[in-house]
Amino acid sequence: MTIIVATKNAHKVEELSKMLEGIGKIELVTMKDAGLDAEIEENGKTFMENALIKARFVCNALGKAALADDSGLCVDVLGGEPGVYSARYASENGENSSDEANNEKLLSKLSGISGGERTARFVCALALVFPDGREICATGICEGLITREQRGEGGFGYDPLFFCPEFSKTFGELSNDEKNSVSHRNRAIMQLREKLKSIDY
Ligand code: IMP
Repeated sequence: MTIIVATKNAHKVEELSKMLEGIGKIELVTMKDAGLDAEIEENGKTFMENALIKARFVCNALGKAALADDSGLCVDVLGGEPGVYSARYASENGENSSDEANNEKLLSKLSGISGGERTARFVCALALVFPDGREICATGICEGLITREQRGEGGFGYDPLFFCPEFSKTFGELSNDEKNSVSHRNRAIMQLREKLKSIDY
């Protein structure tokens, strides 16, 4: 079965393909390679709403099964910020802002907040929508703490500020394999794989 991934990012498709290996014959294709070049407005209030908006749009447009993800960081003491605004946290015009600017903004918002109150989690929502209307949703969460300064050169986004208790290191200090073993994205994919085992497609 071909599944269209609601992203233009070929890297994301490659990463998802690897994580879905071994469960039947699934071929993932970007929406661009499937002939769809659209900007989809992500105006949901939750990660899952955004994932569903993207997957439904692509499924409706192409008449094929579509998979979308949405992810980000939620910090408890900030009431869940940056949340669905993770990619554009430091932006004033709604466009994505740089990782550096987003990390600086997060640190400044947390200045004066003590260690134990700096709890946070990465969340990844996945939505798979079929042309017959079936929708499969999966969520992965990784709990951690926001550090007081950036540590590590690896990863992307908020990784250098996200302390992972399992490794006593930030995500920025972990290898790809280490990060994948606990990451929100991997946990969401594992849940999706489980759900796919019990349905016909
Ligand atoms: P996306 O929905 O996967 O594109 O992620 C949106 C934003 O959330 C990214 O631009 C990052 O700022 C942040 N984010 C999501 N996943 C991660 C991660 O694994 N590490 C660091 N930042 C992440």
